[in-house]
Amino acid sequence: MSTVEAVTELNSVTPGNFRSILGRFVTGVVAVTAAGEEGGAPAGLVVNSFASVSLSPPLVLFCVAHTSTSWPRVRSAGRFCVNILGEDQREISTRLAGSGPDKFEGVPWTAAPCGAPVIDGGIGWIECSVEAEHPAGDHDVIVARVHRLDSGKDGCPLVFHRGLYGRYVAL
Ligand SMILES: Cc1cc2nc3c(=O)[nH]c(=O)nc-3n(C[C@H](O)[C@H](O)[C@H](O)COP(=O)(O)O)c2cc1C
Repeated sequence: MSTVEAVTELNSVTPGNFRSILGRFVTGVVAVTAAGEEGGAPAGLVVNSFASVSLSPPLVLFCVAHTSTSWPRVRSAGRFCVNILGEDQREISTRLAGSGPDKFEGVPWTAAPCGAPVIDGGIGWIECSVEAEHPAGDHDVIVARVHRLDSGKDGCPLVFHRGLYGRYVAL
């Protein structure tokens, strides 16, 4: 095999090296939550594909897999909250990233003005509605308009890096 062919093979895009190389990019962790239908259990999912987009108008984005069963429930609520998780909320993240009828069992929360769960102990929350949705491969990019926001506990963020949770250290 020539050097060029070897390098091409090494650099090829496979699900394994896509996850492995992209996982080197550190992110925070947010929980996207909404009130349940007709007083039912709230809906929520964890995403790390969250980013700030625009100040005027205020917009944020995140990406949702087509396989998500919680996102259609969150979306249909109209308003939802993006909860920025703190470093001591790993268990809450694991719980909301799982599946089950009531992911919120044992997760302490208070209702935002729109009724969506603001998770107690989070370091910030952002109340949003869907502004636009863009299909992107096996995910949709959700652009959301920000209606209200507030800081929470004055703590450090939960971070995600190379498939593991971690904590932030200032240099
Ligand atoms: C740290 C972390 C980050 C995640 N980021 C995303 C994401 O950006 N987009 C996404 O669709 N799912 C993401 N997930 C998976 C979802 O949280 C969840 O597992 C998935 O939506 C399945 O649950 P559901 O069927 O209740 O929606 C992430 C999971 C973890 C643990």
